[in-house]
Formats: sequence, structure tokens, C-alpha cells
Amino acid sequence: MRASFIHSASRVASRAARRSASSIGSGSTHHLQRTSSFPASSGITTTQYRFKSAEPLHEDPPPPVVEQAPPTPAADTLAQHEAEPHLDNNTDDTIRDYSDVSKAGTPSPWAVFDAWGAGEGIVDPLSPEEESMLSPDMVRIPTGYEEEGTPVNVADESDILKSYDKLLKRKSSVHFGYPYNLMYNHEELYEFMKYSINNLGDPFITSNYGVHSRQFECAVIDFFASLWKMEPNSYWGYVTTCGTEGNLHGILLARECHPDGILYSSRETHYSIFKAARYYRMDAKAIPTLPMGEIDYDALANEIAKNRDRPVIMNVNIGTTVKGAVDNLDRILRILKTLGIPRERYHIHCDGALFAMMMPFIDWAPEVSFQKPIDSIAVSGHKMLGCPMPCGIALSRKEHVKKVEQKIEYLNSVDTTIMGSRNGQAALYLWYSLRKKGIAGIQRDVV
Ligand SMILES: Cc1ncc(COP(=O)(O)O)c(C=O)c1O
Repeated sequence: MRASFIHSASRVASRAARRSASSIGSGSTHHLQRTSSFPASSGITTTQYRFKSAEPLHEDPPPPVVEQAPPTPAADTLAQHEAEPHLDNNTDDTIRDYSDVSKAGTPSPWAVFDAWGAGEGIVDPLSPEEESMLSPDMVRIPTGYEEEGTPVNVADESDILKSYDKLLKRKSSVHFGYPYNLMYNHEELYEFMKYSINNLGDPFITSNYGVHSRQFECAVIDFFASLWKMEPNSYWGYVTTCGTEGNLHGILLARECHPDGILYSSRETHYSIFKAARYYRMDAKAIPTLPMGEIDYDALANEIAKNRDRPVIMNVNIGTTVKGAVDNLDRILRILKTLGIPRERYHIHCDGALFAMMMPFIDWAPEVSFQKPIDSIAVSGHKMLGCPMPCGIALSRKEHVKKVEQKIEYLNSVDTTIMGSRNGQAALYLWYSLRKKGIAGIQRDVV
């Protein structure tokens, strides 16, 4: 692999940091400017911003002139090194020094925030008065049945929301630890928030609920089906509430296909996979991991060999939560082949919440696609892609979903999803992000 995830992520961070100070637009056709509502005392006045994935603009201001220190022997060596061709010489980033122990850590590469005017710095914490606006007493919803002594004067909603806005700006400006891409701009979609968009029923079947965004949902599913190399008409999927729902759906299909199967997954797997096993009362084996967080392939092979009389339901991690470890799909397929497990006796779900949508864009990354004998993939939409509400995608082979399908008379549709009412806004936001970024924009975000 040309670049490890950590390496490419750090380049993303530094590029994004450079861009956050520059002139910004959401895509090549349409430039946006936003004036922040911060008081002058915050030192933050006008912030222009762009999607991180937008093409660099020609009118970007020239970089500030930095006074050059006289060359030192170390700088000479560095210059010589830079001049020589060397592997991975595709970045102009310099090495960053994070040895300042007064800092809590290094910035999360996907958490460079510049969508709401906060990217210029860390927003001040709330004053005690502002904080009190958000106390349980202030946000309480009066019923008239309160116990005696309960304060009756709750704060005005607008004042409460002002404090809340400031709290979110503050929290977003110090966002840390969660791999969320906060560099998005969906202002063009705000108008649609006034509609109750609900994608009830199956995305591909016309229901009798008219206020939906299923056309956008289907476009999102088609995009991912193409990205992961599915044949036309061979797939089924939907926009979920999150990666967890995608996992719950994938494992449900697996259990329906193999009711007596055993679920295998590594010990470092996200809790949603073993939660699915618990919900569906499935037998599950947590396999030890190698030091870098991948599943221990020998331990997996031993466990499958011991239970040859039962079908294999395999969860493959395409990025574990803490270490970002990617289980080697090809190696797992080889184990199944070596043990003589036929295709009809195994089912593979890929938990790609973190990296499934990045893999196709990384040079030399092992291919994760439906050209291989896998059955379903789940991915989160609010992480790598950047979406203001939790969401995700579940994608599977079409024949599997028939196993759970139920006709629902009053919807005039079929029930194939985990949830009933489904967030039509999320499908619209995902569609918008994908359309605005395009393949080239996603590639820029990833690499
Ligand atoms: C590997 C992995 N799988 C699944 C999930 C669940 O995703 P979500 O938070 O979208 O439900 C996460 C969340 O961080 C994750 O890291």
C-alpha cells in the first residue's frame, strides 16, 4: 500500500488546515462566502470556506511570505533530501512536531472544522450565564403538574437556542477523537428541512407516501453499488440511520440465509456486530487479533475447522474502531477454500463503517468488492463523507433481501429495512455530498 491510512490522514489534515485559511467554494462552479456571527472580541470575523474536497481555486491568495531563517546544516540536509527522488515523495508537507506536551494530542485528520466559521480558532467556552441557559431547569418543558417549589420561569426559547448554538460551535471547534469529516456545506439544502421527508418502505418500490426522497436514495445506492463493483440489477440497499443499522441488516440477512450458522468476527470488532448476534440469538465466536488489530487468521481457521458442520457467517472488518485494522478478505477467502467450505455454506458481511468507501481510492489497497464472494457491506455516512446527521448505507446481494421481504398493505410497499419510517433528509444529504464532491473530490479527501 503506497500510503498507510495514518500517513494519508495526516496529509489530509495538514492540507485541510492550509485550505481553511484560503478562499473557498463548494465545487468548481459555485463559490460561497459566509460571515460568522462571532463578536469582534472573539477575533473571528469573516470566514470563507470550501469543501475540503473542492478543487483548489485559481484565485486562492498567494501563500504568506515567510521570512527565511539562514540555512542550518539540518535544513541543508532536508533540502538535499527533498531534491532527491524518494518513495512517497508526493507531498509538500513538512514533518510536524507534536512534542508540545501542553497539548492534549494531535488533531483528528477528519475533524478540521471550517464549515461554520469556527475553523479560524478555538471558540471560547460558554459563560456561566450561557451555561445556565442549558440547565435541566431552563430547558424543562412545563406541564402544569410540577411539584411545588419547581421554578416556573423557564428561559425564553430563543435565548436557550442562542446558548446552544454557541455550545455547539465551541464543541465543534475542539472536536477530537471521533473520525467525522466536519468539512461540509449543505446550505443549499436548508430549504428542504421544512418538509417531513420520509422514505417509508423499500427504496426501490413506489409507496403511497408522497413526501419522500427515494429517487435520491436510489441514486446513492446505485453509486455505492458501482463503487463496489456490483452488476446492474444484482443488488439491493438502502440509506440507514447509521453504520450500526447496516451491520444489523447485513447480519440479519446472513442469519436468514443460514439459520444454523455461526458468526465469526475478531475481538476488536465494533460492538454492533456482537449486538446483532445477541439480538438474533445467534451463536458467535470472538476470534483473537494480531498485534495490529487484524483478525488472527490461524485462530479463525482452527475455529471454523472445529465447527465444519455449521455454516460460516463471517464479519470482515474494513477498519476496526480503535486501530483502524483491515481484515484481509483474500486471506479469509483462502481459509474457507482450504477448509473446503462451499460458497453456499458461507456468508460474508463487511463492516465498512469506517473505510469501505475509502478503499477503492487507495493505491495498492486490497480490493473489497462484490466481484469477490461477499454478501453485504455497511458503511457510515456521517464519518468519512461528512453529513450533519448520523446515517449510513446498507448494500447486499439482491437475492438475500427476498428472505426478509414482507408486503405491507397500507404502505403499498414491502418491508425490507430494519426501521419503518426512514429519514429522507439523510438520503438527500448523502446524495448532495456525493454529487458535489464527485469521484475526484472523494479521492482528494481520502488521499
Ligand atoms: C468499525 C465500526 N463499525 C460500526 C460502527 C458503528 O457506526 P455508527 O456509529 O454509524 O452506528 C463504528 C462506529 O464508530 C465503527 O467504528
